[in-house]
Amino acid sequence: MHEYIQKPVTINGIKIINRTMVPAMVTRLSGEDGYVNQDVIDRYLGYARGNVGLIIVEAMAIHQSKSGPLLRLSDDKFIQGHKKLTKAIHDCSDSKVFPQLIHFLKVARSGWRQTIDMLSDDDIKNIIRDFGDAAARAREAGYDGIELHSAHAYTLSSFLSRLNRRRDRYDGRSLEGRLRMFGDVMAEVRSKVGDDFPVGVRFLADEMIKDGYTIVDSRLIALRMAQLGVDYISLSVGGKFEDAIIKEGLPPYPYTGYSGERCMPGASFPKLPHVHYAASIKKMINDKGYDIPVISAGKINNPDDAEQLLRDGRADMIGMARQLLVDPNWPKKVALGREHDIVRCVYCNVCKQLDEKFKKVTCFLWPKDYIQAPDYDPEATLPVWENENPLEAEYLDGAVRLKWQRASGDVSGYDLYRAEDGGKAIVIEAKKGGKFNDKSVLGGLKYSYYIRAYSKSGQASAPSNIVDMDLPIEKFTPQ
Ligand SMILES: Cc1cc2nc3c(=O)[nH]c(=O)nc-3n(C[C@H](O)[C@H](O)[C@H](O)COP(=O)(O)O)c2cc1C
Repeated sequence: MHEYIQKPVTINGIKIINRTMVPAMVTRLSGEDGYVNQDVIDRYLGYARGNVGLIIVEAMAIHQSKSGPLLRLSDDKFIQGHKKLTKAIHDCSDSKVFPQLIHFLKVARSGWRQTIDMLSDDDIKNIIRDFGDAAARAREAGYDGIELHSAHAYTLSSFLSRLNRRRDRYDGRSLEGRLRMFGDVMAEVRSKVGDDFPVGVRFLADEMIKDGYTIVDSRLIALRMAQLGVDYISLSVGGKFEDAIIKEGLPPYPYTGYSGERCMPGASFPKLPHVHYAASIKKMINDKGYDIPVISAGKINNPDDAEQLLRDGRADMIGMARQLLVDPNWPKKVALGREHDIVRCVYCNVCKQLDEKFKKVTCFLWPKDYIQAPDYDPEATLPVWENENPLEAEYLDGAVRLKWQRASGDVSGYDLYRAEDGGKAIVIEAKKGGKFNDKSVLGGLKYSYYIRAYSKSGQASAPSNIVDMDLPIEKFTPQ
């Protein structure tokens, strides 16, 4: 049924078995030493076992600069660990795996941060060289390709930015000037890995900051990337330092301000808030004769939505970060027609908060103390309702208060489904306990609720009883 999701796609001669990609997501599972360890391998093996077509391994540093726990590819001594990771993935799956290569500038607890206009000509030469060297190491380590991180708050993205204050060859006042650093890096990387090695890029479709660039520029940036020979374009938005909220004693974190919220849109955002960027950029480059895959990410988790956007040609692949974190078996479950077994991300952003605090990135919906997603056991028995009508609701103080009796069996949590005014029921929240206050209702509308209990690996019980609520409009009287 989801035939577009299952269609293979080729990236510079490499076959990707389906249209799913896990975009880079920092795990904080490595130590500050930057080596690959078993926890890191297990995290990525989870995606491979789940049939994710293209696995992008979290941003890894190409240079020596100090930071918290972060993978590195800044020296030959790191190659061995990455070899273990790529071998483990290739041995157990047909997934392809690329590392995301990142260069970042210095930030201090005082709030000070280095900006690209402070870089000398030699600094720039070193950055270009470091990208090339890291790309060569990636190839040696058995990766199937690489991704250049030119998004968010980091060095390459800052050159592309409209806020680039350089006044030299990389002059921020012209689009061509802003694009030159990426061109230099791309040329160096190609000279190190050759033309037959996939080199993708991640960059911003919109900086989401005041005076930053928007789709007007990103369509042209995409075209230049294609002209420069990138093999795919993966889009993100926001995640900038310029609007980061400065917290006393902590280095600035580029996902705290509005642009950060847009980068990892939380529960209050509509689904698929960024797909229109991919559609516009894809049209632009296709019209100019380039057919490299364009990848969209951002609150995509419903298989039908994913299928539709691929069918419509709004993107060539779907990137799912937080959804594949909670349930790396999404592609396998969709292929088996077991969509109900998917553990749905509710975009609570606990993972983002853990990343910010340099803590191991895990998911709130996993069983307590797990540091990896549970394995998928298609044969596991479904949770069952003990009571015929476990769900009850009442309307009080502008909120629908739901409570339910627990299901029995292997129960990991409960998905709450809600239909608004006769529409389609969608998951609005996932809970571990037996109650939830729905504060996002509006008087005058009708709501129907039901819940499903799900097991560790996502098997859902039958729906509970449906509770219909016809909410009165509040009466206002002059005070
Ligand atoms: C914990 C966490 C770490 C992330 N780390 C990276 C990263 O290393 N590189 C990157 O390009 N994006 C990173 N992102 C952004 C995601 O790749 C993705 O673009 C974003 O979460 C929106 O997609 P989603 O709605 O499918 O989660 C990270 C996101 C999260 C939640």
